Amino acid sequence: MTSDALTTVILAAGKGTRMKSRLPKVLHPIAGRPMLGHVLAAAGDFDGAATVLVVGPGMDQVAQYATGIHPGLRIAIQEQQAGTGDAVRSASAQIPDKDGVVLVVFGDTPLVQRETLALMVERCRRESDIVILGFEAADPTGYGRVVRDGETVTRIIEHKDASEEVRAIRLCFGGPMAVRARHLQALLDTLTNDNAQGEYYLTDFVAHGRAAGLSCSVTICPESDIQGVNSRADLAAAEAAMQKRLRAAAMAGGVTFLDPDTVYLSHDTQFGEDVTVGQNVVFAPGCRIAPGATIKAFSHLEGAEIGEGAEVGPFARIRPGTAVGARAKIGNFVETKKAKIEEGAKISHLSYIGDARVGAHANIGAGTITCNYDGYNKFFTDIGAGAFVGSNSSLVAPVKIGDGAYVGSGSVVTKDVSGDALAVARGKQMEKPGWAAGFRAKNEGIKKASPGE
Ligand code: UD1
Ligand code: MG
Repeated sequence: MTSDALTTVILAAGKGTRMKSRLPKVLHPIAGRPMLGHVLAAAGDFDGAATVLVVGPGMDQVAQYATGIHPGLRIAIQEQQAGTGDAVRSASAQIPDKDGVVLVVFGDTPLVQRETLALMVERCRRESDIVILGFEAADPTGYGRVVRDGETVTRIIEHKDASEEVRAIRLCFGGPMAVRARHLQALLDTLTNDNAQGEYYLTDFVAHGRAAGLSCSVTICPESDIQGVNSRADLAAAEAAMQKRLRAAAMAGGVTFLDPDTVYLSHDTQFGEDVTVGQNVVFAPGCRIAPGATIKAFSHLEGAEIGEGAEVGPFARIRPGTAVGARAKIGNFVETKKAKIEEGAKISHLSYIGDARVGAHANIGAGTITCNYDGYNKFFTDIGAGAFVGSNSSLVAPVKIGDGAYVGSGSVVTKDVSGDALAVARGKQMEKPGWAAGFRAKNEGIKKASPGE
């Protein structure tokens, strides 16, 4: 009887030379999350499965990131980056079950879908000793080509080792491979580095397995689910594919995008039904948008919650720690940070509201600024429900504006304002009758006295 045990091995030890980056390749973000985070989400926590992450020596940053999101993860160190087959070999001591299925997934294929991997594991349990994931590449350059004899997969040939004839094959190996664990050691023992790159290729499992009488089949998925990231251009292509997927999911969930291709989402952006998003809007990580909210054109949101029926933008910058209440309104050129803007409050134009609460139905006039920072510390501004802050006021924190209070326009408020009071903190207006006419007459006289100029 085949055991249902599963071990997932994620390969992330490669140097990623083609990225030309100090940051390890698998930590480059796609939709606001490191590639490896996407792979772990798809492959990392199958029920009861053990997960082994293969990293290179000194790649502590990668190991730390992965264990941070997946504490049960085992880490294997591949001493020298001698190829994908060698990487699996360095994980083999950590594979607890010699019975079930071992699923190998590459850390540089962030678009891989959980359902596809689950399907491969099932096929490996029931039908085939080895199951590989393949895709038809628009441009197969660089990928390993899947060679078939009828329906049987006979081998994978790396691009650099392939003849022109093989290079014409468009069915490519995507990276994921499921292998029955009991054959793993024997397959690892067959690997040599006698090839164009002098590496131990995981892909040789197919030909070597076939030679030993093992069965091998291919599961095929769309290219947009498995394209690999080896360069910055690939990174941009993967980002575009991920954005497409996220937008489609949001629209399927009841969101209207006025121009979908110009809206950028993060892996964790959450939308309620009937949200409308205008053109050129960016949702950085950590945003939750409640049903019926409208985010207008050219707004940037990060780490924010937007309440039901609220309106944000156009041209708003909503920074982390902002919570906008139901039916509140944030207008153009408004920046908020760590701000609780309660139900129905309005900040319609040109404001900075940071480290603050704006009570329900308060109205913040154009140009109002919370002066929250003295160069060392941040201070809190508390604006009560129904307060009205006149245009161009500076609220010097820490300061409290009571419920229902008024602040006269242009005030610099440094002291608390009592509820329902009016505070005016600006130079008093005075008037000198006729002064301007006198001033003009005097100056015109001087001008006439010196006509030569
Ligand atoms: C590999 C496949 C190729 C496939 C392509 C899909 C091999 C030999 N080639 O090529 O058939 O079409 O992926 O994207 O498997 N890694 C290690 N240790 C190493 C080398 C690599 O852990 O010594 C890791 C990398 O971090 C990466 C993954 O394995 O996550 C794939 O390595 P990479 O060098 O990107 O292989 P490709 O050239 O893309
Ligand atoms: Mg690759």
